[in-house]
Amino acid sequence: MQKDKLLKGKPVADHIYGQVSERLKILKEKGILPRLTVILVGDDPASKVYVSRKEKTCQKLGMDSETLHLPAATSQAELLQLIEKLNADRSTHGILVQLPLPSHIDEHRVLLKIDPDKDVDCFHPRNVGLLVSGKPYVLPCTPAGIVEMLKYYQIQTEGKHAVIIGRSNIVGKPMANLLMQKASAANATVTVVHSRTKNLPEFTRQADILVAAMGRPEFVKADMVKEGAVVIDVGINRKDADNEKGYVLVGDVAFDEVLPKAAGITPVPGGVGPMTIAMLMHNTLTVAARQNQ
Ligand code: GUN
Repeated sequence: MQKDKLLKGKPVADHIYGQVSERLKILKEKGILPRLTVILVGDDPASKVYVSRKEKTCQKLGMDSETLHLPAATSQAELLQLIEKLNADRSTHGILVQLPLPSHIDEHRVLLKIDPDKDVDCFHPRNVGLLVSGKPYVLPCTPAGIVEMLKYYQIQTEGKHAVIIGRSNIVGKPMANLLMQKASAANATVTVVHSRTKNLPEFTRQADILVAAMGRPEFVKADMVKEGAVVIDVGINRKDADNEKGYVLVGDVAFDEVLPKAAGITPVPGGVGPMTIAMLMHNTLTVAARQNQ
């Protein structure tokens, strides 16, 4: 395996944690202890893993955190009430509602309820609007983490053709915004393709930077990738396997066959994954500092 092609998340995340620790020290000297409250509704196994990682990282850094684990049967009204209480609680700086929510709850209503000043995900429509305007309040965690990785590994984006597969609110749409923006200094030419795109490989083969974020295991095959492209795999999918867990994690990219063609590629796990939490910690400090200005 050509190890130098691997774009690992850990060294980039550690670089961000270094900055976070410095900023945290300064905030603590001012008597501010940033606090992140994470709400998890139901028992989705992957969400439970992500949420416990978020809490552990807060503890490791010396930030305050709390996870509120509610039963799957929680009503929308109960959840909205809880968010209202947290909005009014001055000791909680950041509020994160882990997605997806159970199907009886309207995700949009819930995200609208979060005080946008406490929205560490950049999911509130006010913050999405500010992002699109090029004046972000905070940056969306996963896309911002990817931009940090591109910078760290000195991958030029200016004038390059970035093709994003997937149009989700969490990754695809904000990723397109960040990569095209002057404000993020990425300045790429961006194409977004999705499940209804005709002749999708014709677009992906033009990508200098290919971001796979549609949640379909090993969807991107070697013949969909240009020689020398940089491939960013945002997918985390469970694939049945004959081991003690009963599964292995695979990305949205068929890693083994794409690796020889790519100039750089993020592994799964260990690629983009660690960046989401690092940027969440960064955002929690940012909102805590703003609330105390
Ligand atoms: N579910 C998957 N990724 C995320 C994320 O970044 N934030 C939240 N709140 N939920 C998620």
